Amino acid sequence: MTRDIDSEREEKLPDGGTAAGDDQVALDPWGSATVADYRKLFEEFGIEEFDELLEEVPDPHYLMRRGVIFGHRDYRRVAEAMRNDEPFAALSGFMPTGDPHIGHKLVFDELIWHQQQGGDTYGLIADLEAHSARGLSWDEIDEHARDYLLSLVALGFDPEEGTLYRQSENRELQDLAFELGSKANFSELENIYGFSGETDVAHMQSVVTQMADICYPQLDEPKPTVIPVGPDQDPHVRLARDLAARMRYFGVTEAYASFELTDAERIHVAAAYQNRESYAEEPERPRCEEAAEWLADVRDATDPVVAGTIDKLDNAGMEPLRPRVRFLDRNATDEAFEALVEAVDGEKRVFEEHVDSFDLSREEAEELSREVEVDHGGYGFVPPSSIYHRFMTGLTGGKMSSSVPASHISLLDDPEEGYDKVKAATTGGRETAEKQRELGGQADECPVYELYAYLLAGDDDEFAKEVYDECVGGERLCGGCKEQAAELMEQFLEEHQEKREEAEELLEDLDMELDSPRK
Ligand code: TRP
Ligand code: SF4
Repeated sequence: MTRDIDSEREEKLPDGGTAAGDDQVALDPWGSATVADYRKLFEEFGIEEFDELLEEVPDPHYLMRRGVIFGHRDYRRVAEAMRNDEPFAALSGFMPTGDPHIGHKLVFDELIWHQQQGGDTYGLIADLEAHSARGLSWDEIDEHARDYLLSLVALGFDPEEGTLYRQSENRELQDLAFELGSKANFSELENIYGFSGETDVAHMQSVVTQMADICYPQLDEPKPTVIPVGPDQDPHVRLARDLAARMRYFGVTEAYASFELTDAERIHVAAAYQNRESYAEEPERPRCEEAAEWLADVRDATDPVVAGTIDKLDNAGMEPLRPRVRFLDRNATDEAFEALVEAVDGEKRVFEEHVDSFDLSREEAEELSREVEVDHGGYGFVPPSSIYHRFMTGLTGGKMSSSVPASHISLLDDPEEGYDKVKAATTGGRETAEKQRELGGQADECPVYELYAYLLAGDDDEFAKEVYDECVGGERLCGGCKEQAAELMEQFLEEHQEKREEAEELLEDLDMELDSPRK
């Protein structure tokens, strides 16, 4: 989700870039919310491009169609569940540190859309995080929490179908946080978040709480779950994916003999297996040592991975190479392990801490391991997925920030104030009308165009495109363009605020404490 803090550590440059320099990419959940170069997120952090799976998403949201949602992790499995009418979930959280603004609306809309697509949808108030990581008092938290919930419901979230909770009130969540905490240690938090000896324990606790939030939709049954957030939250998503995997009873891997392989080593062994005809005395039974010899011939044996692979194969000597899927016992009880052994159909070999199956496919094995786990009291978590949206540019240029009122439009702003802020916004226009007609405006660098694309044009792609084309074609001048945007904004705020009033009632019916007993 959109960050709502200004980092004191980075100074704004006139172009709205950051003093940290343009090649720096940092993803800091409690730091600055700028991203200098979205492409780097793909290369450096392994976030995948959303565009590549757009076609797999049924009836995609306009934020997806317009590239505002630009990246994802593992969203394919969520899209697949959606297409096949299988259960899936969506969850996001809001730190109640200020007014909800049009940046948060992106996440509200993403949740609501997933709910409308049939997802089991959760919105949570991260009050423990706001209290521990930002030092907000419980009174302040209560006030803002209410405002977030009202806007979420006013925009279309159905609280009867979905689930809303606050972290501080959710005992089940806190129990899950405690359990997940047993799978993470301090060095890891130090590496991921830069925590140090000075970091207070409650802040660390808010991290495991968020891990529990992310897994929470799967407490009843495992299912694909998407976490729509801003890319600053990606460190949390990565850790949650790791912890979810560490909770699993069994790990499923592929192997070729009795010994374990790393992913890098497996590639070499797979190649050796593929080429068995060329070196094995009995090609149906290629021996490990023969494969080692072949690898030493055709690969660079000074490469440490190759050398390590050759060593392992040599040690296994005459053992034949045979592809198999392996179930590793990670956290299983004895009964669960035995039940798994029992459930593996076809040829298998049972070892102390693993079972090898020669007939199951990887997918069948994954499914079986989850089934046995769930039958024996485990969670069987599916790794949580995420989608990432671009941060909105501030109306004054630079980044949008809660602490700079002119840079953003709060969902609580007076409609006229919203109108005025749009009228005063920076644009991608040229110095004179004449130049604008000649060269066209720079819609791609215009915060006003963003307002159209992210919000004002709503689902109407044609309208968004018209604004864009007219702008870059020189037919649209900034004065009129801003007037139109300002009027639309005023209208949007008026309607939204009316709906907020209607939502008051729904909120009263919620099974949620809106006034925290913690004072
Ligand atoms: N850390 C998030 C923020 O800073 C809030 C949050 C808490 C959250 N738990 C979550 C977001 C779970 C997504 C999923 O805004
Ligand atoms: Fe921006 Fe509109 Fe001006 Fe184009 S015409 S630069 S979209 S304000």
